Amino acid sequence: MEKKKGRHAGYFARRRKDIQAVLSRDPAARSGLEVVLCYPGYRAVRSHRLAHWLWRRRWYLPARWISQRTARRTGIEIHPGAQVGEGLFIDHGSGVVIGETAVLGRNVTLYQGVTLGGTGKETGKRHPTLEDNVVVGAGAKVLGPFTVGENAKVGAGAIVLKEVPPNSTVVGNPGRVVRRDGEAAGIDLDQIHLPDPVKERFDELGRRIQRLEDCLRRLQAGEKCEDCEQRGAESCPKKHGGGETPITL
Ligand SMILES: CC(C)(COP(=O)(O)OP(=O)(O)OC[C@H]1O[C@@H](n2cnc3c(N)ncnc32)[C@H](O)[C@@H]1OP(=O)(O)O)[C@@H](O)C(=O)NCCC(=O)NCCS
Repeated sequence: MEKKKGRHAGYFARRRKDIQAVLSRDPAARSGLEVVLCYPGYRAVRSHRLAHWLWRRRWYLPARWISQRTARRTGIEIHPGAQVGEGLFIDHGSGVVIGETAVLGRNVTLYQGVTLGGTGKETGKRHPTLEDNVVVGAGAKVLGPFTVGENAKVGAGAIVLKEVPPNSTVVGNPGRVVRRDGEAAGIDLDQIHLPDPVKERFDELGRRIQRLEDCLRRLQAGEKCEDCEQRGAESCPKKHGGGETPITL
C-alpha cells in the first residue's frame, strides 16, 4: 500500500514539475490550470511520458499510436523511444520533431519548429543528446548523434551538425560557436557580410572575359600571343586555364 502511495506521489510530483517548467519559463503563463488546458507543449510531454512507459515495456504499437495522435493534435512529434528528462518545456510547439534515440536532460527548452533528428547516414544512436538546461531556438535543427553540452544555447534558425561544448552559444548555418562561458568565441561574428559564391563566380567570369577580349584585340592588331607582354602574368588567360594553344582568330 505504502509502495502504491509512493508511486502516485511520484506521478503527481512529475506532473507538477512539468507544469512548473512552463510557469517558470513562459511569462505569458498565468496559472497551472491555463498550462494544463492551453499549452500543447505540456500536453505533448504528458502524453510522451505514457507513450515512453509503454515503449519501455515493448508495447510498441500502442506507444506509436499515442505519439502519432498527439502529433496530429499538437504539431509536436516525440518518438516514444526518446528519453526526456523532467522539466522539458516546448513553447508554442508546432513543427517540433524529437527522434527515437534523442536524449534530453533536465529543464531543456525547445521552441517551435525545432528538429532533434538524424542526418539519414547513421543507424543505432542517430539523434542528439541535449544535456541539462539546453535552450534550442525557433526553427533550429540539431542533426546527428552528438552531445549539446549543458547550459548551451542554440540560436533560432541554426543548423547544428556537430558537438556543442557546455555553456556556449551556437548560431548560423552550419552552426558555429560564437560565445563560450559568456565570452565571445574569438571568431568572425559578422552575420551580414557573408560570402556570395554566385556573385564571386560571376566576377571571376567577368575578369576572364576581359582578359580574353584584350588578347583578341592584340591578335587583331597583328601581335602574336608569344609577343604579348602579359604572357605568364596574372592577366594572361593561359595562366588561368587558357591551355597551351595560342588564341587565333
Ligand atoms: C542565441 C540566443 C539564445 C542568444 O544567446 P546569447 O548567448 O545571449 O548570445 P548573444 O545574444 O550575445 O549573441 C551572440 C552573437 O550571435 C548573434 N546571434 C544571436 N542569435 C542569433 C541567431 N539566431 N542567428 C544568428 N546570429 C545570432 C548575435 O547577433 C551576436 O552577434 P554579435 O556579437 O556580432 O552582436 C538568441 O539570440 C536566440 O536565438 N534565442 C532563441 C529565441 C527564440 O527562438 N525565440 C522564439 C520565441 S517565439
